Amino acid sequence: MITPLPAQQRHQQLMVDIEGHNTAYHRLDAPVISDSEYDLLMRELQSLETQYPDLQTPESPSQRVGAAPLEQFSQIRHELPMLSLSNGFSDDDIKGFDKRLHKQLDIDQKVNFDYVAEPKLDGLAVSIMYKDGLLAYAVTRGDGKVGEDITQNVKTIRSIPLSLPAGAPARLEVRGEVFMSHAGFAKLNKAQLNKDKKQFVNPRNAAAGSLRQLDSKITASRNLSVFIYSVGVISEPDFADTHFEMLNKLADIGFPICPLIELVQGAPGCLNYFQALSSQRSELDYEIDGIVYKLDKLNLQNKAGFIAKAPRWALAHKFPAEQASALLKEIQVQVGRTGAITPVARLEPVFVGGVTVPNVTLHNQNEIARLGVRPGDTVMVRRAGDVIPQIVSVDLSRRPKDSKAYVFPINCPECDSPIVSEGEGIIARCSGGLVCCAQRKQAIKHFVSRRALDIDGMGDKIVDMLVDLNLVKNVADLFRLEYSQLLGLEGFAEKSSEKLLQAIHSAKQTHLSRLLYALGISQVGETTAEQLAQSFGTIENLKAAELEQLEALPDIGPIVAASIVSFFDDPQNLQIIDSLAILGVVYPLIDIPSAADIGELPLNGKIIVLTGGLESMTRADAKKKLQTYGAKVAGSVSKNTSMVVVGTDAGSKAEKAAELEIEMLDEDQLLTMLEALAAGSYSSS
Ligand code: IVH
Repeated sequence: MITPLPAQQRHQQLMVDIEGHNTAYHRLDAPVISDSEYDLLMRELQSLETQYPDLQTPESPSQRVGAAPLEQFSQIRHELPMLSLSNGFSDDDIKGFDKRLHKQLDIDQKVNFDYVAEPKLDGLAVSIMYKDGLLAYAVTRGDGKVGEDITQNVKTIRSIPLSLPAGAPARLEVRGEVFMSHAGFAKLNKAQLNKDKKQFVNPRNAAAGSLRQLDSKITASRNLSVFIYSVGVISEPDFADTHFEMLNKLADIGFPICPLIELVQGAPGCLNYFQALSSQRSELDYEIDGIVYKLDKLNLQNKAGFIAKAPRWALAHKFPAEQASALLKEIQVQVGRTGAITPVARLEPVFVGGVTVPNVTLHNQNEIARLGVRPGDTVMVRRAGDVIPQIVSVDLSRRPKDSKAYVFPINCPECDSPIVSEGEGIIARCSGGLVCCAQRKQAIKHFVSRRALDIDGMGDKIVDMLVDLNLVKNVADLFRLEYSQLLGLEGFAEKSSEKLLQAIHSAKQTHLSRLLYALGISQVGETTAEQLAQSFGTIENLKAAELEQLEALPDIGPIVAASIVSFFDDPQNLQIIDSLAILGVVYPLIDIPSAADIGELPLNGKIIVLTGGLESMTRADAKKKLQTYGAKVAGSVSKNTSMVVVGTDAGSKAEKAAELEIEMLDEDQLLTMLEALAAGSYSSS
């Protein structure tokens, strides 16, 4: 059947329009139409091609939706081998690389080379061949000589041109890295979760899994991106004189090039770029694992040549690895201030994320079970940015034959008291209380810490020593210390003994909220301590407080309330508090806002909980606004809550509010209320 001219013309127009939108969206980051409008154009194109199959050419954007699944990938031999890069890690490695190149090319060390500095993208290398302006085939790197034919999959990546403009080299092989953005990765894992399918561990694995799909329709659904970083085969030997010029020409032809690439001068230029990118790295929407420096002049590149499988004219300056494997020597438990028992993995120290990591927390018994980790295992340790290091997996293939599962202790390693478990195995606690030396030490360290009583110069080592020598059994004993007891201890001469005693003396003047925090009542942090101080005014009032009274306070739920009551029920604790007073510790209340200030406000006495996301403002802003009208904004829902503002994706708090039949407001209702408050026309019902 001959396709009528109007259909041909419409098809041509659609091809141009759709590819234009692909460029606008994927390369310029400036879409002009919505996704659904784009889908409409695509569907029109597809239906024309179904009606008139001869319209379906290899360069039609309809190819981007994927083709029929393959049985297996066929292999393609690279015309020019795909090489890898030599690595450098330190500034000296980079200076050495630059020096060697000067020597080898016989150029005075004082003359700075131009280098192109490029982010080293953490994805998969791909080679894409264009013949006579059309995408002919695309191949994985494979072993560098032979790769797999992934043409159908690569065609689904919308930023890759399916055809090139007139004037492009007749044969052109571009090479680049296929990767998945953080946003694409998050979206994919969310979709996987909804479909009850496995989660991908990182964007690289997700990109690899998506690109090596026999069913290219799956690849099409996966949001892959690509940046081109070099040329392989090219029919125009004089295409460019420099690497930088070549990249610019590729960009003009329509290839996606990483916008962060820069031309820099000499090793210092390389190192400056490395610094700048290192600090930008966490803000990028894709993973990079280093910087690649490439000698800019192509004739110099040719002269420098290759060693083994890597060019002499390029170097990958790697960021410190964020993951590394390490031997887990043993698992020990640590006893915290409130007796919480935390298992810790002792490692053969490993350099990861730029620091040496000797220990990693295992959090709790459930985490040990989840990882299935045992002493003697080889584990993968991850430390990204400033996040605390974590064990992410266990290498079972390297587990020793005689390995035994870890048995969580039933007695405290410090005082031998039984360990009790709370919250379904999440928290294990030593039941020894102040009998437990470890707990005593931690409790005293907390008591003297900066945000508690702030005893200057009382470091961890001193506390350990004082407890080990039985000079201090509880926090009150600190105020009983005498000059003669300190003098002669390790690190204590006359001056230092006097200084510490002076610091202890000064710490006797404190505030109620600080003292309450310093006492280390389980669940009571600084904010709660402040709230208790303001609400009760004196420690005597707090001692006498009933559960219900405590629970009536915003932000104090049943668990916190119970913990406070049980602290003040313990005669040992009461005795310590009495001793502190006898020893001269004074702790007045400070900063009570005048009742008159809040008495007149329309939301006075209301306790409001905010949950879920708001669109028109942040939760912090909403909180501030509500507080200015006298409301207390609490973090958890209890029967004392007056109303709950339910934003998007609200979870258990909204459910609890419904259960307790507490008034719920959506964002619109909140805005209406705030408007009424601002206009002075709000009346609470
Ligand atoms: S150039 C002969 N540039 O790193 C030069 N590679 O470790 C070959 N990579 O297989 C590569 N970003 O997958 C080059 N801007 C970049 C790169 C880059 C990532 C990857 C590529 C290569 C591997 C070598």
